[in-house]
Amino acid sequence: MVHKTVTTTAEFLRSWDARVNFLMADECAPFSFQFPPTQQIVERLVREEKTTGITGQLRDTGDRGNAMEVFRGMSFDDLMATSFQLRYPDVTVLDRPGDIFAGFTQQVLEPWKGYLLEHGFTWDRCYALARVSGPNTCTGYHMDRSNVLFWNVCGRKVFHGFRDPDRWVPLAQANQGREAQIMPEDLSDEDVLSYEVDDNTLLWNHLLTPHWVDAPELTFGINFSHGGLRHNGRLCRYEQHLYDTLGRNPNEAWHPETSSAVFQEKAARH
Ligand SMILES: [Fe+2]
Repeated sequence: MVHKTVTTTAEFLRSWDARVNFLMADECAPFSFQFPPTQQIVERLVREEKTTGITGQLRDTGDRGNAMEVFRGMSFDDLMATSFQLRYPDVTVLDRPGDIFAGFTQQVLEPWKGYLLEHGFTWDRCYALARVSGPNTCTGYHMDRSNVLFWNVCGRKVFHGFRDPDRWVPLAQANQGREAQIMPEDLSDEDVLSYEVDDNTLLWNHLLTPHWVDAPELTFGINFSHGGLRHNGRLCRYEQHLYDTLGRNPNEAWHPETSSAVFQEKAARH
């Protein structure tokens, strides 16, 4: 079976360094959070300086630039009448009393990081981004240089990847720049692995695997980005390749305050 839901830690440890995306639940979802209604999140994020915006519709998404100026000052209804996507880079900034993500660090980020540590993982960076996708929007086809735990919080999305990612993007090409990341034209339905995700669904998206995500309706979600994720000191195969190719660790200088070492130091002090 290609569609897979990983529900035990033992299975997660067997699956995290594979290539085919999977859903996560039960033991592998050691947190929950009561988010405010998505409208309230949209209205808050559209006012935030650090929010970036994406315009465009399905398959025609201006994914590369920041279109936030188009959306500033727009009401929720106006936004819903256009094609909008919002990205907010660090959920913990809005974790303050009375704000939309109050309590997130304690209720979500710390349990997740604690879970990883408890089971032998370390990382160079790990943080949570927020993402809102308006109706009939899509991400472009792309690969990420991080392992991503994709948490679809509210609304319906379709997360597309491949049944055999290595056939379409072998290791040697996986690490090319965004310009080289173009959806192959000769795809058939059987080549694509699509997960329909609904409220409160978690999906593990492997580093450097091609994917694109459709949002037929308004959705809100959280992405946990992991750089330099190691189990018992070992990177996943593709990230090891990335390090070998670059000749250095691309993660160390990137949000070092979110590393497992810093997390452990803080935990030891409390
Ligand atoms: Fe992605």
